[in-house]
Amino acid sequence: MIAGNWKMHMTCAQAKQYAAAFLPQVANAPKDRSIVLAPPFTAISTLQEALAGSDVQIASQNVHWEASGAFTGEISAEMLLELGVGYTIVGHSEPRKYFSESDEQINQRARASQAAGLIPILCVGESDEQRSNGETERVIRRQVEQGLEGIDPSKLVVAYEPIWAIGTGKTCESEEANRVCGLIRNWVGYPNLTIQYGGSVKPGNIDELMAKSDIDGVLVGGASLEPDSFARIANYEVVTAAAAA
Ligand code: PGA
Repeated sequence: MIAGNWKMHMTCAQAKQYAAAFLPQVANAPKDRSIVLAPPFTAISTLQEALAGSDVQIASQNVHWEASGAFTGEISAEMLLELGVGYTIVGHSEPRKYFSESDEQINQRARASQAAGLIPILCVGESDEQRSNGETERVIRRQVEQGLEGIDPSKLVVAYEPIWAIGTGKTCESEEANRVCGLIRNWVGYPNLTIQYGGSVKPGNIDELMAKSDIDGVLVGGASLEPDSFARIANYEVVTAAAAA
């Protein structure tokens, strides 16, 4: 599953232009992959129209756990479902950092979205400091266990996104990314779990990442903003482990 997170980028007009440039490039993408775009809320409707007739799906960048109410700035699962959204990103390191989102809140978002019929994409990952202190496994295990309490793993995506690799150009070595994704699979205890890697994924490293046994997809920030580069990522080439070595 190849997902592009536009973050706080793209007006409606830009989203339309993007779709016009992107869709022809993925029209013949192999059917073994799903392609997802996560625009800002304001561009969901326009993008949905522009993607009509294609297999490209839409994710939201957040969801609230309540169905409605006095929650200024939040959005409900029902509002997203009405627009044809299928997935929602929860627990991204940016809201964890800038809005101090807790594992408990992230869990509430994931549970509510799943209950409503959206598939949560739960992001987990360690900081540079946590990695240097040898805390990677402990931190991610906590994020996985607390974030996924009460969650059905068959309707879930987990994205391993080491914070130090996000937007920095420093990709986690594919071997190490694969190792952590494997640990996550074990901790969740569901062999068919869809696990993505995220953090400076680019056209130049996608084939190697996707060749890894425990990496089932990627969550892409910066490189998803350019239709050509995201199309190259979505059209990743399947290389065998032997060829990649
Ligand atoms: P990046 O962002 O690809 O720009 O590193 C990844 C993400 O935040 O999901």
